[in-house]
Amino acid sequence: MELNFQHADPGLSLMGEAAAARGLLESGKCKGSDFLGWLGLPSAMVSQVSRIEEAAARIRKSDGLIVVGIGGSYLGARAVIEALGTDFPVVFAGHNMDSLYHSDLLNSIQKKKYSINVISKSGTTTEPGLAFRILMNHMESRFSRDELAGLIFATTDANKGSLRPLIKERGWTDFVIGDDVGGRFSVLSPVGLLPIAAAGKNIRRLLEGAQAMADIVRKDSSEKNPALQYACYRNASYRSGKKIELFLSYQPGLHFIAEWWKQLYGESEGKEGKGIFPASVDFSSDLHSMGQWIQEGERLIFETILDVIHPEKDIKIPSSPVDDGLEYLAGRSLHEINRIALAAVQDAHSKGNVQSMKIMLDRMDEFNLGQLLYFYEYACAVSGIMLGVNPFDQPGVEAYKKTMFRMLGKPGF
Ligand code: PA5
Repeated sequence: MELNFQHADPGLSLMGEAAAARGLLESGKCKGSDFLGWLGLPSAMVSQVSRIEEAAARIRKSDGLIVVGIGGSYLGARAVIEALGTDFPVVFAGHNMDSLYHSDLLNSIQKKKYSINVISKSGTTTEPGLAFRILMNHMESRFSRDELAGLIFATTDANKGSLRPLIKERGWTDFVIGDDVGGRFSVLSPVGLLPIAAAGKNIRRLLEGAQAMADIVRKDSSEKNPALQYACYRNASYRSGKKIELFLSYQPGLHFIAEWWKQLYGESEGKEGKGIFPASVDFSSDLHSMGQWIQEGERLIFETILDVIHPEKDIKIPSSPVDDGLEYLAGRSLHEINRIALAAVQDAHSKGNVQSMKIMLDRMDEFNLGQLLYFYEYACAVSGIMLGVNPFDQPGVEAYKKTMFRMLGKPGF
């Protein structure tokens, strides 16, 4: 992985602050230091990989997997699975309460034998709780308790929450989310690893990539540390009045990497009246919807581009007997053309006073993705500490819940 600041002010004047923030993180003296368990996940998870792979192999014997979770309890798995692609049906539930979505889901599994991985650290979140109840109601009408014990996998807190008694009583396979790992930092725990392994992906390589990045960002306090560089770039942009960071990618498969990244940075930094607003666009499609605003609208944004150098698959542009004005591209690689579009857009945006930096991945495989995830997490922690907030809490998320509970008539609200 490499960072490229050709079209950006890297904000190197903030490097001292970034190094100090990194020091606070590594010494456990930052705000929210009860939640630093994610730092060691790439090595801590190695001992759990065999058990996760064994559970994944059982899931793969069923017709598919339904991952029930919201926020940090599903976005990481979805990001990795959609970026890498899968030959195994994996669907997601519990991240919305739409009746049509869940009715269609029930219809689609009517004659199938799907496994369920219910993921909730607290075990009390309404959205996945309701989806799980609806799915269990469906499953219990079709399968015996013994059959269900082979199909239900629960990932939750070691002791607390409403899933614990059920796991004990029904004999479901369970995985634990550590007390010291927050949801949005949990993709490299069983929260992400089990669905990713069930999708047929190599979680050992994912962890190896994450460990390789941990070895860089945790040991280097110099300006060569890519996580410090990214944290400087972001904070310098923010302090110069650019309040919105736009995540750009040119591959539809990366859409959920952006969604995961938005939660990670939005929930970690948006508090106390501060924080960069993380937004994303998918190019080329959004060039024809948001492109005008980005090029000439109010100058509030800076960009971070995720650039994958080598494609997993490519297509050569065929020759055509029809004069469609594109023959000059015949014989060229579609991936190469996509990356030229990236360079052209970057140049145009730069001339439109939008600075951008590139995060360049060699290819989109498990190892590179592991590196990327750990890089984003570490840089997020450093960046949040530089901003002066606790990057590991999310007090504001409770506000809507209280009102919703009151409106729904939940006892005690
Ligand atoms: O990052 C977070 O902590 C949140 O996004 C949670 O993951 C999300 O709210 C789901 O919570 P839970 O796993 O307790 O159901």
